[in-house]
Amino acid sequence: MIPRIDALGAEGERAFQAAQTQADLEAARVRFLGRKSELTQLLRGLKDLAETERAHVGARANETRIRLESAHAEAAARLESAAAPSFTRDVTLPGRRAPVGHRHLLTSVLRETEQIFRGLGFSVAAGPDVEDEWHNFTALNIPEGHPARDETDTFYLRGSGGGSGDGSGARGSNGGPGAAIGALLRTHTSPVQIRTMAVHQPPIRIICPGRCYRNEAVDATHHHEFHQVEGLYVDRNVSLADLKGTLERFLKAFFGRDTEIRFVPSYYPFVEPGAAVDIRCFFCGGKGCGVCGPLSGGWLELLGAGMVHPNVFKAVGYDPEIWTGWAFGAGIERLVMLRHGVPDVRMFLESDVRFVRQF
Ligand code: FA5
Repeated sequence: MIPRIDALGAEGERAFQAAQTQADLEAARVRFLGRKSELTQLLRGLKDLAETERAHVGARANETRIRLESAHAEAAARLESAAAPSFTRDVTLPGRRAPVGHRHLLTSVLRETEQIFRGLGFSVAAGPDVEDEWHNFTALNIPEGHPARDETDTFYLRGSGGGSGDGSGARGSNGGPGAAIGALLRTHTSPVQIRTMAVHQPPIRIICPGRCYRNEAVDATHHHEFHQVEGLYVDRNVSLADLKGTLERFLKAFFGRDTEIRFVPSYYPFVEPGAAVDIRCFFCGGKGCGVCGPLSGGWLELLGAGMVHPNVFKAVGYDPEIWTGWAFGAGIERLVMLRHGVPDVRMFLESDVRFVRQF
């Protein structure tokens, strides 16, 4: 019986391997593995065999059935893959575009501002976000106890020996460059004036864009984290007319040729005289509206500026009898909000892609 089982196995395998169609395959399956196949009959008849023979023959018949089942499965897989349509690559189809991000509106405006000032002969300077009291206040003619220290609520760094951070003013001022007692997050970009003058001799023409931090209640126009761009020009015989001309040039390049600006006297300890620079509200043309406010007379305050105070020159070792200069500091968010009609300063930091994608 065993030779017959082996012959059936070999014959069945050949039949499965030779099958070219589903019909061939099915016919081979019925013949070698079907209910009426010789092998199945043989397995059914095992019970009639003598016990000694039964185990031997049964094992061989089972092995053969398993061999044939796997030959059938292989043949089925072969026919199926042959029937599957073959894909060819169409190289003329357009590719799938990967989503690419772009610069944030604030970054673009900072770059644009740098471009405008580079065109006027300025270079770009940078300073640290974590400052000390000397650079942020003292050297800018804001000595310890000066009320101007209370005007901006400062974030002091714990353990730095600085103020309490509750807006009550600073402690631990050290009176000289280099020492970093009273570490704080800079409240404006003006300390970069000091850092630049401390290591460079005039003439100096720099702008400094960067982040500033103030412990302020956040609302539509105030944030605890915002950007300013500082400007500083120091040389012999620098006048207020240079400041006016430069700012007019910048603001017209930024807002358009018809932009009207005006200088209004203002106080900053590090400039004398000091001025606030306003722009004619271009939402209402100067009639007064919700943007510029009913009491503004149609003007919007954009930035602070003025002639560098002699005490600032003294702090960095410049002779105020020889050197003259001007400085300004503008809030970048405010410039952007006006030009692009952004109604709330918080939108810049919310990371909402619906906002970011608009610009
Ligand atoms: C200053 O910070 C001076 N350092 C500017 C200066 C530089 C004057 C050089 C003279 C010479 P002020 O505190 O006004 O000034 O801030 C300048 C601008 O920063 C404001 O006009 C406003 O646009 C922006 N700003 C101030 N505080 C905030 C805030 N909390 N959120 C958003 N923008 C702010």
